[in-house]
Amino acid sequence: MGERFAPKVPVQLDPPKDDPISPEELSKCDGSDSSRPTLVAIKGVVFDVTRNSMYGASGSYKVFAGKDASRALAKSSLKPEDCVPDWYDLPDKEKTVLDEWYQFFSKRYNIVGKVEGATNT
Ligand code: HEM
Repeated sequence: MGERFAPKVPVQLDPPKDDPISPEELSKCDGSDSSRPTLVAIKGVVFDVTRNSMYGASGSYKVFAGKDASRALAKSSLKPEDCVPDWYDLPDKEKTVLDEWYQFFSKRYNIVGKVEGATNT
């Protein structure tokens, strides 16, 4: 499983942080404010995706930025209404897709905190 989802170019990651990040602060980190990092959360775990312009203000995946996008990632959806944390009611197949995205992000992006009050981790 080691090489699965591994980046082509090795990424040097920092030790994961456990800092609480409020949903309000997370929402401000949506790539629209250059003084803030761009963040995406999966299952309440917050990743810093600033270096990938795909999540930036004019990127293809900006819909995920500043949110816990678990449901959308599980469902392979880009709909803003799917960019919510709730994933628990989804079928196993989609839960597996979500776990694969979690692995993908874990190998590329620093974990900078946890969404405050997240219950579905
Ligand atoms: C026509 C459909 C789609 C095309 C052509 C497409 C294309 C791509 C391409 C070219 C990449 C970059 C791969 C790389 O960096 O090596 C990518 C990454 C990605 N795609 Fe898509 N995609 C499509 C649909 C979707 C959908 C529906 C989702 C919803 C979950 C999605 C989510 C992502 C995510 C999260 C990444 C990872 C970006 C990263 O590196 O952090 N894509 N896609």
